[in-house]
Amino acid sequence: MTILITGATGNIGGEVVNHLIQQKLPFRALVRDRHKASQLEAQGIELALGDFSQPDTLDTALQGIEKAFLVMPNHLHQVALESNFIDAAQKAGVRHVVKLSVMGAGELPSTFQTWHRQIEEHLETSGMNWTHLRPNMLMQNMRWFAQTIAQSGAFYNCVGNTKISHVDARDVAEVAAICLAETGHENKSYVLTGGKAITFDEIAAIFAKALGRSVSYVDLPPADLKAARLANGEPEWYLDAELELFTCWKQGTGTAVTQAIPDLTHHSATTYEAFAQYYAQTRAQDFFSGS
Ligand SMILES: NC(=O)c1ccc[n+]([C@@H]2O[C@H](COP(=O)([O-])OP(=O)(O)OC[C@H]3O[C@@H](n4cnc5c(N)ncnc54)[C@H](OP(=O)(O)O)[C@@H]3O)[C@@H](O)[C@H]2O)c1
Repeated sequence: MTILITGATGNIGGEVVNHLIQQKLPFRALVRDRHKASQLEAQGIELALGDFSQPDTLDTALQGIEKAFLVMPNHLHQVALESNFIDAAQKAGVRHVVKLSVMGAGELPSTFQTWHRQIEEHLETSGMNWTHLRPNMLMQNMRWFAQTIAQSGAFYNCVGNTKISHVDARDVAEVAAICLAETGHENKSYVLTGGKAITFDEIAAIFAKALGRSVSYVDLPPADLKAARLANGEPEWYLDAELELFTCWKQGTGTAVTQAIPDLTHHSATTYEAFAQYYAQTRAQDFFSGS
């Protein structure tokens, strides 16, 4: 069996690669830029150059592939771009696509959830087998807050004391690797969460302990958060989509805890405390100024 991993230079795809290496499963990684993928190449991983925005580049990458993992960042044209990959996979005779989606797809009215459901539907009607992985907010998003924590010991959002069942991307990737390696996951959706929903104040306390420095969460009015992040150069469409999601979360839609990770991996979902310890060990320099 040959597996194709997209997003191999990214957060989740990179962790899927690690799991497939551990399991000694043969796979190929689709990358846009060979230089960015030099670490993968150094590990002896077979690379195929391709870009979802240039469908012609996908045909060679998909030759001989039976199962594929599909992921890309949120993007204004995400539905069209992921659909390009699905169409190319179907044409190449791929039998099964494991798609990285999002919790609330098809249920919440927010942009990211709507787009992911549209892509899921495109995959479901392709004739190929599918598995939708729907994670809640990733613990690894703490990287987005590292700069302000380093500068001022604080991070900012507008979700108040809402509880969210954050999930570790390494657990999500482990589930993806299981769905790629095994049968029995065809045409199923898995909602992937941590074992507990917690507030950003609780996260601040956990990170403060793990990093050995003060960390606090500052809640801002949504308009102030948007203005600050716009001034920081982030695109307005993206900020609006995030604010929609935060509004949904404030209504309690991000708190659900599911058993999919324990059921599939046979271990508990990673706790925020364990994640923070790991992140403090591997990324501590990101959270301190002058480093
Ligand atoms: N963050 C969260 O809390 C969260 C929660 C649930 C779901 N999600 C979903 O997770 C996805 C993002 O996953 P991630 O964090 O692993 O993303 P990521 O770290 O930004 O990685 C994205 C990968 O996609 C590749 N890529 C980008 N554009 C591409 C294109 N046109 N063609 C082919 N490959 C392309 C990138 O390659 P390059 O290295 O060349 O750029 C990179 O390897 C989004 O769809 C998001 O909705 C995120």
